[in-house]
Amino acid sequence: MEKKNTPVPQTATLTYNGRSIELPVVVGTEGEVGFDVSNLYAKTGHLVYDPGMANTAVCKSDISYIDGENGILRYRGIPIEKLSATHDFIETAMLLMNGKLPTVEERLNFGMLLTENANIHESMKHHFDSFPPKAHPMAILSAMVNSLFCYDRQFQRMIDKDPTLAIDTAAANLMSKVRTLAAYSHRAAQGLPYMFPDPSLRYCSNFLHMMFSEPYRQYIPENEIDEALNLILTLHADHEQNCSTTTVRIVGSAQANLYASVSAGICALWGPLHGGANVAVIDMLESIHRGGLSPQECIEKAKDKNEPFRLMGFGHRVYKKYDPRARLLKTCCDRVFKRLKVQDPLLDIARKLEELALKDSYFIERKLYPNVDFYSGIILRAIGIPTNMFTVIFAIGRMPGWIAQWKELYNDQNSRLTRPRQIYIGAPLTQYQPLTKRK
Ligand code: SDX
Repeated sequence: MEKKNTPVPQTATLTYNGRSIELPVVVGTEGEVGFDVSNLYAKTGHLVYDPGMANTAVCKSDISYIDGENGILRYRGIPIEKLSATHDFIETAMLLMNGKLPTVEERLNFGMLLTENANIHESMKHHFDSFPPKAHPMAILSAMVNSLFCYDRQFQRMIDKDPTLAIDTAAANLMSKVRTLAAYSHRAAQGLPYMFPDPSLRYCSNFLHMMFSEPYRQYIPENEIDEALNLILTLHADHEQNCSTTTVRIVGSAQANLYASVSAGICALWGPLHGGANVAVIDMLESIHRGGLSPQECIEKAKDKNEPFRLMGFGHRVYKKYDPRARLLKTCCDRVFKRLKVQDPLLDIARKLEELALKDSYFIERKLYPNVDFYSGIILRAIGIPTNMFTVIFAIGRMPGWIAQWKELYNDQNSRLTRPRQIYIGAPLTQYQPLTKRK
């Protein structure tokens, strides 16, 4: 990447088959350069080919910034290490969605909106009965978030009249209800009564109350537990154009509503290569703990090309250094375990795996480091969150990022329907004899 503020040529020359064209250049705040190929097909009849879009900037954005080479993550320019030490998840969400940190009054007003929107419509509770008891909570969450649109009819009316108000109201609705839906999916699976949200509790404590309270004994987590979950949600809040956020943008580019777009993002996040990795990490650590594999054997298996096995929670498309979020979560593990006075053999196994991998040439050459999913599950386990809910927690954290990115797309006058092309490698023009002559 060019160094920030170094002058760069404003065009790039592409030469092919005896012809040259000039491509405009887009330069980002930190010096990242993009060759603008938005008119390439019109000018040349040719396409760029980039499976997985690893080399493609699909948009300009001012929400998050990642410097993968240096392990940097900033939300609206603020380093995640500083922000997570001084502001909570709701203030972080408001920074991402509104472009600035809230004033005290704005924070209070949004807190009231979250309280007002915490309860789901009574008829929605019956939807949970239609899922089988072992239904995956991510399938339930995606379906229920999509259904929320049916109950937010004002969204459609308002978006025509006052888009900003409509989107901000829907944002509060989504951020508040996603907790309730997640908690209720857990209660329904356990055959437990639903717990109404408690307006006196902070965002994370209210979620844990809805998850774990009993009819005659309210569960109110200790401060350190509330703060640990708050940190996890803050660190998951946005991450530029990751798979699920790009999904939200693609669906939003078709002018589908915010709820439908976020529901699609939840489905993308579910995949084990993406948000589902936090579950896969625990499965991997548990299999080692059960005596399946030693940590070293796990490392060897992850390196073996004949094995589909990967060291889950390791590696990243963008970070080629330690994921800054993983570093913060690793420290958080110690705080939570110290407060709860618990030990978890999985944490010791995770540390051993990290130690072995970080000095192994296979991982060093490929710049594979722990990512956000490597330690998050261990903390969630200590808090008592069931493993199959880990990616649901990721979705609760990512909600403000999806909303912020959808808003940015919605307000971008230059946004277009996302419709990529392909390189066709199938059959040439083919003649054929129909099996039977039409009557
Ligand atoms: C998240 O994009 C985001 O920002 C996502 C996220 C967010 O906040 O939204 O950060 C959240 O999804 C984190 C990633 C969680 N996934 C995992 O932990 C699953 C395990 N990791 C990998 O599958 C992999 O690292 C990916 C999917 C994360 C990234 O894969 P890439 O960029 O497509 O890289 P690749 O598969 O081409 O790997 C390059 C090389 C290959 O070896 P060679 O072919 O060069 O010999 O590295 C190897 C891979 O085999 N490799 C691994 C590995 N990850 C990559 N080998 C063993 N174990 C791994 N974990």
